[in-house]
Amino acid sequence: MKYLEIFTVESNIALNKTCFLLVLRSPVSLETVAAGQFVSIEVKGEDERILRRPISIHDVDKTNNLLYLVVQRIGKATNRLAEIKKNDEISLVFPLGNGFAIEGEKPLLIGGGVGTAPLYLLAKEFKSRGIVPDILIGARTNEQLFLTNRYSALGNLSISTEDGSVGERGLVTQNSVLKKDFDVIYSCGPTSMMRAVADLAKKRNIKCYLSLENRMACGIGACLCCVNENKEGHNVCVCTDGPVFLSDDIKL
Ligand SMILES: Cc1cc2nc3c(=O)[nH]c(=O)nc-3n(C[C@H](O)[C@H](O)[C@H](O)COP(=O)(O)OP(=O)(O)OC[C@H]3O[C@@H](n4cnc5c(N)ncnc54)[C@H](O)[C@@H]3O)c2cc1C
Ligand code: FES
Repeated sequence: MKYLEIFTVESNIALNKTCFLLVLRSPVSLETVAAGQFVSIEVKGEDERILRRPISIHDVDKTNNLLYLVVQRIGKATNRLAEIKKNDEISLVFPLGNGFAIEGEKPLLIGGGVGTAPLYLLAKEFKSRGIVPDILIGARTNEQLFLTNRYSALGNLSISTEDGSVGERGLVTQNSVLKKDFDVIYSCGPTSMMRAVADLAKKRNIKCYLSLENRMACGIGACLCCVNENKEGHNVCVCTDGPVFLSDDIKL
C-alpha cells in the first residue's frame, strides 16, 4: 500500500558541502517501509511547482515514526530541499519501489557517493538478523563522505577515495576488501561504478543486486520516463519493477 501524507520536518542537518540529512516525522505508521525503497517528495517553490523527486529511504525509526533521507544538492529541487527547516511540512508518496531482497550469509554492500544512502537500512537489516555485512564506500575525496561512523557501527567498513584522502586510493573495484569471500553483493551509486561492480560479480560468480537511480517523473509506473532495458531487450520501469534489479537481469 502506498501513502500520500504530509510529514513534519524534525531536522535538516548538513553532512558535508553538498549533502544533508532530513529527519521527517510521519503522521502514519512506517511499519511497512523496507530497505531499498524510496519516497517521492514534493518540492515547493515560490515561483513555480516542480515535479516530485525520488529520494531513497536512508533509515527509518518505526517506533517514533521518523524517516531519514540523505539528499545531495545537485539542481533546482535538491537546492530547495536543502532550505527546509524544522516544523516545515512536506508531502511524500511512499513507500515506493521493490526494495532489496535480503539474502546471503556473507554480504558486501558497495555504495558510491550519495548512492551509499539506501545501503544503511540494508546494513541495519542484516545486523538485526545477526549477520555483519562488509560495507565498501567509494567517493572522489573525503569531503564527499557522510555518516561513516553510523555505517561502521553496522558492519566492517572499508573506504576507497580517488585521491587517497581517506581509506585506500582508487576505485571501489580496486579495494583490497574484495579479496574476501562474499556470497552476495548489493550496490548503489553512479552507473559506471555499478557496471564495474556487476562485471566483477559476474567474473566471481557472485549474485549481485543493483539499485538504479534513473531520472523519474511520476514514480508510479504511469509516465515511462524511467524505463531501462532488461537483458531480453524489454523495457522495465525502474520506479515500479525496481529500483533494485539483479545485475544479470538488466542492461546498464
Ligand atoms: C530511486 C531513486 C533514489 C534516489 N535516491 C536519492 C537519494 O537518496 N539522495 C539523493 O540525493 N538523490 C537521490 N536520487 C537522485 C535524485 O532524485 C536527483 O538527484 C534529483 O531528482 C535531482 O533533482 P534536482 O532538481 O535537484 O536536479 P536537476 O536540476 O533535475 O538535475 C541536475 C543535474 O543532475 C542530473 N540528474 C538529476 N537526476 C539524476 C539522476 N537520478 N541520476 C543521474 N543524474 C541526475 C541532471 O541530468 C542534471 O545534470 C534518487 C533517484 C532515484 C531514481
Ligand atoms: S517515473 Fe513514471 S513510470 Fe517510472
